[in-house]
Amino acid sequence: MKTVILIGALGKMGKAALTGLAKHKVITAGRSGDVDHIVDITNVDSIKALYEKVGHFDAVVNTVGYCEYAPFTEMSEAQWMTTVMSKMMGQINLVRIGQDYIADNGSFTLISGILNVKPIPYAIADATTSGAIDTFVKCVAYEMPRNIRINVVNPTVLTEAWDVYGDMMPGFEPVPGRLVGKAFERSVDGFITGQVLFVDA
Ligand SMILES: NC(=O)c1ccc[n+]([C@@H]2O[C@H](COP(=O)([O-])OP(=O)(O)OC[C@H]3O[C@@H](n4cnc5c(N)ncnc54)[C@H](OP(=O)(O)O)[C@@H]3O)[C@@H](O)[C@H]2O)c1
Repeated sequence: MKTVILIGALGKMGKAALTGLAKHKVITAGRSGDVDHIVDITNVDSIKALYEKVGHFDAVVNTVGYCEYAPFTEMSEAQWMTTVMSKMMGQINLVRIGQDYIADNGSFTLISGILNVKPIPYAIADATTSGAIDTFVKCVAYEMPRNIRINVVNPTVLTEAWDVYGDMMPGFEPVPGRLVGKAFERSVDGFITGQVLFVDA
């Protein structure tokens, strides 16, 4: 059994990830609500405080990455920066800071999303930062110290989120959260590193 910090535990993707972590001690974290620890992934002091408070842990699973949606022609720099500072830098900072705290042979699992390989209107900031995270994971895996692994789950839309995003995504087939949970499980329990784990229908 590993000690896993699950960030964004109360969100749709967090609930999907949780289905793959049943055999572990899961410590939940998020920005609000009924979680073990409150954390804001856009704030480095908050990230440090989370790791200090938890102490020993073997894995970090992050499912947070806030994105702004608008046509490229209308998206402001502020909207771009909000997305970059959450979905891209927030996740990079979880790893950059977390590498000093995580146990030997530990693992990080991040979140991206299928829109960087299957683009749709309004989602340019999500697609761009998802692509950045996929690249970050593939390349930084070579530099991780102490046998620490890193992967990213790149899912299509969840069945559980189809009522929210379905109208934006004609021609897409949603996947159930428990299938996406398997990808998180493969990352945490396997020996793979530097992988983009696509879950698509
Ligand atoms: N849903 C899908 O079908 C799907 C598919 C592929 C990829 N993704 C990606 O998965 C990620 C999560 O999506 P989701 O559908 O799970 O969203 P969600 O249901 O809205 O959940 C997001 C969770 O993250 C928390 N959060 C937001 N900003 C935070 C921050 N700065 N620090 C800590 N926690 C924060 C939210 O807390 P509050 O409630 O306090 O705001 C909420 O609990 C996104 O990057 C999305 O692009 C989602």
